[in-house]
Amino acid sequence: MDENSHSEEELKKEIAYYKKQLDQLSGQSVRHDFAQTTLRHSLRQKNDAFAAINILQKKYVVGTPLHNMFEETAKALTTSLNMNRTVVLVPASSQNSFKPGHWYGYPAGQFNIADPKEIELPPALLRNGQFLLINKKAEIDEIARQIQDVLAISFFIGVPVIHDDAAVGFIITGRLVERPPFSPVLDKGDIDSLTTITSLISTVLQNTSSVELQLAKKEIEKENIIITEQRDQLEKTLKDLKAAQAQLIQSEKMASLGELTAGIAHEIQNPLNFVNNFSDVNAELIDEAKLEMEKGNIVELKAILNDIKDNEQKINHHGKRADAIVKNMLQHSRTSSGQKEPTDINALADEYLRLAYHGLRAKDKSFNATTKTDFGENIGTVNLIPQDIGRVILNLINNAFYAVDEKKKHTSTGSVQNARPDDLVGRGYEPIVSLCTKKNNGKVEISVKDNGNGIPQKIVDKIFQPFFTTKPTGQGTGLGLSLSYDIVKAHGGELKVETKEGEGTEFIIKLSV
Ligand SMILES: Nc1ncnc2c1ncn2[C@@H]1O[C@H](COP(=O)(O)OP(=O)(O)O)[C@@H](O)[C@H]1O
Ligand SMILES: [Mg+2]
Repeated sequence: MDENSHSEEELKKEIAYYKKQLDQLSGQSVRHDFAQTTLRHSLRQKNDAFAAINILQKKYVVGTPLHNMFEETAKALTTSLNMNRTVVLVPASSQNSFKPGHWYGYPAGQFNIADPKEIELPPALLRNGQFLLINKKAEIDEIARQIQDVLAISFFIGVPVIHDDAAVGFIITGRLVERPPFSPVLDKGDIDSLTTITSLISTVLQNTSSVELQLAKKEIEKENIIITEQRDQLEKTLKDLKAAQAQLIQSEKMASLGELTAGIAHEIQNPLNFVNNFSDVNAELIDEAKLEMEKGNIVELKAILNDIKDNEQKINHHGKRADAIVKNMLQHSRTSSGQKEPTDINALADEYLRLAYHGLRAKDKSFNATTKTDFGENIGTVNLIPQDIGRVILNLINNAFYAVDEKKKHTSTGSVQNARPDDLVGRGYEPIVSLCTKKNNGKVEISVKDNGNGIPQKIVDKIFQPFFTTKPTGQGTGLGLSLSYDIVKAHGGELKVETKEGEGTEFIIKLSV
């Protein structure tokens, strides 16, 4: 009995022990089950995440707009990572402040996320590799609380989307509750999944930019080709224009040569008359000399021979003058490659004044104008290209003659009986062109002044431009002043104009000595 009761006791104990063991074991098994379920669950989530990332990777190709990727991501994260809500914050008005741009998982009408509440994120968070992890174990700081309030998510993770060193977005996804196994506590694995997606977006943006860069480069190259073509075209046009200009300058030269020729003919006539007269006289003197020789009148013969010699010298002098005039004319027609030489300014000015005057008179018998000269005595010679400066003087004098002639024509028409008051004034008009030279502050000034109509203020700025003319076709090329300006400039001098409407014009050439 004792033994039996003993063994019964033992047995009871043993049963109790095994019962306890069993309880423990079943508790453990429940825990294991739970752990297993949790593990299986998070494994499934990870798998879902991978699948989602795979899909996104195929969807996000180069050129996909950022807002499309954000929209898509918000949806994919919520469903595949088993989140309740996802919000993509996008940059707002000020730096580091963001506002909801895309969201998913919010019940329509219950929560108005579109209400633009801005959230300021710390700059330290807006860098690659940074994240927010707010689970039930996390410390809730100011930022976390703000996000919880504004976005109505209790537990969440957040990762920035970086492009070109700036945060173009901040993705927040999370859950309303954390209750394993179906709503496990957010962990580093979730961060990894989200980071994979934000990196994917960054990469797409990067590639898009570089493709865009490539395209822009190609576009620039294309434009370069067009520009090069245009430049070549312009160069050709410029060359054509230069050729045309050279031709026009040549024709201006020929025109002024025409103006000169008449004057020159007049000028040559004078020495030729001398030459003819003196050679006639000499012929007579030689006959006389023969007679005296026959008479044996040596004294008289000597006197006659001396006269012949004097006349011969005069013939020679006038012959040389004609020669010089012709040479000058030839020089003028040549393309300017003249040499600078010490030149008597007064003589040059006088020569061209006479050439211009007689040239105009030869063309138009009715032309008349009083010319006045005032040549400074102390001027001496100036180193210059005579035919070039001569041409400038000629241009200015021709313009002056034209101006006074125009004024005369327009003020003296009509008879006295039916004349307007203006015409009566014009009756007393005397056209005057003055040519003066003087030395002033180490500079030689040549001035051509007329009492014509002057130059209207609104065109005075244009008169030195090539081809600017107010004269009728055939009478002006508009190159005279432009060429004159260039010539004077090439001599290191200045060409100035002073004019008063209705009263006249003065052009002044200033040359350094
Ligand atoms: N002395 C002047 N008086 C009035 N106008 C002048 C005078 N000189 C030049 N001009 C104005 O300047 C313009 C340009 O002169 P210019 O270059 O010599 O060309 P062009 O004599 O062939 O017209 C003239 O058409 C004229 O309008
Ligand atoms: Mg002219």
